[in-house]
Order: sequence, then C-alpha cells, then structure tokens
Amino acid sequence: MRSPKDFFRPLAVGAPEPVREVPFRPSRMIHFFDPGNPRMAAKVPGIAPGVDVLLGNLEDAVAADRKEAARTGLVEIARATDFGQTQLWTRINSLDSPWALDDLLTLVTEIGDKLDVIMVPKVEGAEDIHYVDRLVAQLEAKAGVRRPILLHAILETPRGVANVEEIAGASPRMQGMSLGPADLAASRRMKTTRVGGGHPGYLVREDPLPGAADAPRAVFQQDLWHYTIARMVDACAAHGILPYYGPFGDIKDTVACEDQFRNAFLLGCVGAWSLHPVQIGIAKKVFSPAPAEVAWARRVIAEMGDGTGAVMIDGKMQDDATVKQCRVVVELAEALVA
Ligand code: GLV
Ligand code: MG
Repeated sequence: MRSPKDFFRPLAVGAPEPVREVPFRPSRMIHFFDPGNPRMAAKVPGIAPGVDVLLGNLEDAVAADRKEAARTGLVEIARATDFGQTQLWTRINSLDSPWALDDLLTLVTEIGDKLDVIMVPKVEGAEDIHYVDRLVAQLEAKAGVRRPILLHAILETPRGVANVEEIAGASPRMQGMSLGPADLAASRRMKTTRVGGGHPGYLVREDPLPGAADAPRAVFQQDLWHYTIARMVDACAAHGILPYYGPFGDIKDTVACEDQFRNAFLLGCVGAWSLHPVQIGIAKKVFSPAPAEVAWARRVIAEMGDGTGAVMIDGKMQDDATVKQCRVVVELAEALVA
C-alpha cells in the first residue's frame, strides 16, 4: 500500500524505502452532501461509486436547528450503505461550537468502523489537533474501532495559516489539509463575498506604452489564493500529508472552477471539494495527470536510464531533477489506476 508520504519521499537513486503509515487512496474530489436532507441522502448510494470521497457535512451550510438531524442522518446512511472503494469522511462542527463534542462522541462510537477521515474546520494550531486526536483515540478504544480514523484540517483562519506547519505535523493521524477560502476571506477581512475563485478587481494592469498613454492596456487577473495554497502545499509536503483546494462556490461557472482546480493541482494539491455533481467530473479530470503528460514523463524516465546525468529530448534539457518531476506524474497516474 502507498502512503501520502510516498508522494513526497526523496526520489534519489538508492533512497531507502519510506515508512508506510497511511495507505494512499485516491481523493481527487471530496463530494459534500447534507446527511439530514432526505432528498440528498437518498442519492448517496447512487453517487458513491463515481466519487473518491463522500463527505457527510455537519458544519456550515447545515442550519443550527438541523445539526442533530444531520448527525443522525449520517449514522443511518453509513450503516445502510456499502461504500465499496469510496471513502467516507465527515466534516464535524468547529471546536468552539456547542456541537463538536457530540459529533465526535456519536460518530466515532456509532460508525467509527466506517469513517475514514474526520475533517476539522477552523483549526488554529496544533492544540486543536491534539485535542481531537486524544478524544478520537479514547472513543476508538471504547467502541473497539481497530482501524485508526484519520484527521484533516481546514485552513481558514489567519492563526491557522500562521501555524500551518505545526498543524500539518501535529499527529500521525493527519491525512491532509484543505484551503477554506470563504472563512479565510472573512476572518482576514478580505473584501470579497465569494466562495473561492478569482475576483475581477484583483488584477495587474499593463504599463502604458511610451507616447500612447490613452491606448487600451491589458489587464491580468491575479490569483487571490496563490500565497495560501503555496504555504499549505509546502507545510503538507514537509510533513508527508496531502494538500487540497477547498470549495468553489460559483457552481454555474464550470470554466473558472476548472481553472482554479488546475492552479491548485499544478501547485501540488491532490484534490478539491465538490459541492455539486457537476464539479465531480471537473475534479476527476483536473486531478488525474493528463495521458500526454504521463506519456512524456515515461519517455523522460526511460531515456534518463539510472536517473542521473543529462540528456536532450526534443530540444529540452533533462537531468536528475526533471526525472524526479516525471516520477511524481507517473507515480500519481499509477496510484490512481491501482
Ligand atoms: C470552507 O469551509 C470555507 O470556509 O471556504
Ligand atoms: Mg469554512
């Protein structure tokens, strides 16, 4: 079995085999559903085979007076459904809410054997992960859950971003981390009212050409999330866990969604959230290496022999470093078909 750590292992010739802790499983799309909504819940068995991860959401987007219905609904769905290869995750309520403790108590003791990952929102520092880790360990022991439930943090507060590295390394249960652009924007006092994606006001304008001050000038929209995603990817890579882009709220704008997901993929993320079935296919396409990229990477690996030295292929220089980049692409492609 491969582990998330494998994706970040040193790839030098003769490097020792990494310690395998967490089995790698595809998680290109984390598909959110509201387990307290009977219409959505009824669709779960049909959706499950087509997604890598199904996530029963208990936090934001579930109204305060429906928290218990969502929790109970998730227990019922988990008991009634055979998820096959698809992972079952949940997003519990935040640790400063009145619901988080009951979420953990109920879910770990009732369906702990079915839960793969618990997503913890608004994580501020290692202490939040330590708290959940201890509690989950006690509840697993109480319920006789033998396969450890993993933890995933949402990066969505300025303190969380400041502490991103200690969060990534806070527990061997840490599976990964997602960007939470909506809460992060609010808590940073950014002036956007969107869930992820770009903003037409966040741009750079081309300088005027000499003698043409009034001529139209090109504008280039910038990525509001680049800095945070890059910090998150570095922290995750340093600690051998997996980084994810979070939600993209403009469901109708499938083109911009694909662009945002692709930026994240190119920067190192392995998946994103899908909030609507239309985003499932987008995530699957974007977070699976393109066949042409994989074919090119295999060619470089083959022509580089033992992976050292330098060769020219189609006019492009390849060396020890590019062969490592190519192995990242090929290994991901192979892990996804395994
Ligand atoms: C997700 O939880 C977000 O706040 O964007
Ligand atoms: Mg949030």
